[in-house]
Amino acid sequence: MRRCFWHIAHSFRRVLKAVSWNLLMVNTAQTKRVVIAGGSGFLGVSLACHLADAGWQVTILSRNRPRVDGPWQHVNWDARSLGAWASCLNGASGLVNLVGRTVDCVKTPDHCDEILRSRVEATRVLGIACRTLPSPPPVWVQMSTAHIYGDPPSVWCDEDSPAGFGLAPTVAVAWEKEFASAVLSQQRGVVLRTSFVVGRNRGAGGGALSKLAPLTRCGLGGTVGSGRQGMSWIHEVDMNRLFERGLKDDSMRGVYVASSPHPVSNSDFMRCLRRAAPWPKVPIGLPAFSWMVRIGARHLLRTDPEIALYGRYVKSSRLEQEGFVFRYPRLPEALEACFAPQAK
Ligand SMILES: NC(=O)c1ccc[n+]([C@@H]2O[C@H](COP(=O)([O-])OP(=O)(O)OC[C@H]3O[C@@H](n4cnc5c(N)ncnc54)[C@H](OP(=O)(O)O)[C@@H]3O)[C@@H](O)[C@H]2O)c1
Repeated sequence: MRRCFWHIAHSFRRVLKAVSWNLLMVNTAQTKRVVIAGGSGFLGVSLACHLADAGWQVTILSRNRPRVDGPWQHVNWDARSLGAWASCLNGASGLVNLVGRTVDCVKTPDHCDEILRSRVEATRVLGIACRTLPSPPPVWVQMSTAHIYGDPPSVWCDEDSPAGFGLAPTVAVAWEKEFASAVLSQQRGVVLRTSFVVGRNRGAGGGALSKLAPLTRCGLGGTVGSGRQGMSWIHEVDMNRLFERGLKDDSMRGVYVASSPHPVSNSDFMRCLRRAAPWPKVPIGLPAFSWMVRIGARHLLRTDPEIALYGRYVKSSRLEQEGFVFRYPRLPEALEACFAPQAK
């Protein structure tokens, strides 16, 4: 009788232990909540899907709802003034800030103003919001751009290179400066100077690749301008892995270049794109001379010709030192993965 009672008590203890362990695991998983400010676009939706798959709870903070539905909660804000939205940051495990008006436009004074203000004001108000909260996110991963280095024709830039000259470097420097004063002293801050992200179009925008690929089908996927300008790029899978590492890895802090270790020239990029682009494949791409790009970009594509005519070669020394292994280090495989029927 005593033995039987001991067995029952022992089994009960084991069940209780298993239940409490499971509850602990659920709670731990629940505390992994991330807020993605500016998460309604191409990179935000891609990251939200990636983090949700990895077990995170995702909140997207943006003025408009993402154009697609997904495993996230949406919170509305105006990206410049403090409001009720700030409470979504309280208790979150991390903040990723992607807010920024697209630079893929004709650079009118109004557009330039919005390109700068959207980035600086959103970063500032996120910092103000964090200061009002009892439990602000302990880590803030901040988007920046590899365009901060300007457009040096042949110099390779890394984290230690100085900022370049022109609108993009001016905006990027202001953006990073604002981040440096917005991030709390007790918060771990990670800045990702990101190059051209190649990825799939999930219906929330597909980045610049979704604009370039259709051109190859019309035989227009040839060399642009001199063709020697650098095209630094990163696959969205590696971009998302970097964001996640930034959120989770306590040793990651400060500025990183987020770009594959093998940037290519524009003519190599366009050749790879013609090969990888989906049916109907047009192997020949007519070259676009600078004067054609200057007229066509402004009047037909309503964008800035300089985005196509200039470029840069960037590479991360820090990621190499810290052992980050890219899943897509080379462009042909990266582009193939972007256009493959099934996600890789
Ligand atoms: N895609 C790339 O290859 C790449 C490379 C380097 C850096 N980046 C940077 O990464 C960020 C995200 O890129 P993305 O490709 O995902 O861009 P996107 O698709 O255009 O998304 C931009 C996000 O910023 C918000 N936004 C746009 N204009 C705004 C404004 N005037 N005021 C406040 N919020 C505004 C949008 O949300 P709402 O309009 O709904 O508020 C959206 O969530 C941008 O800052 C971009 O410069 C992108």
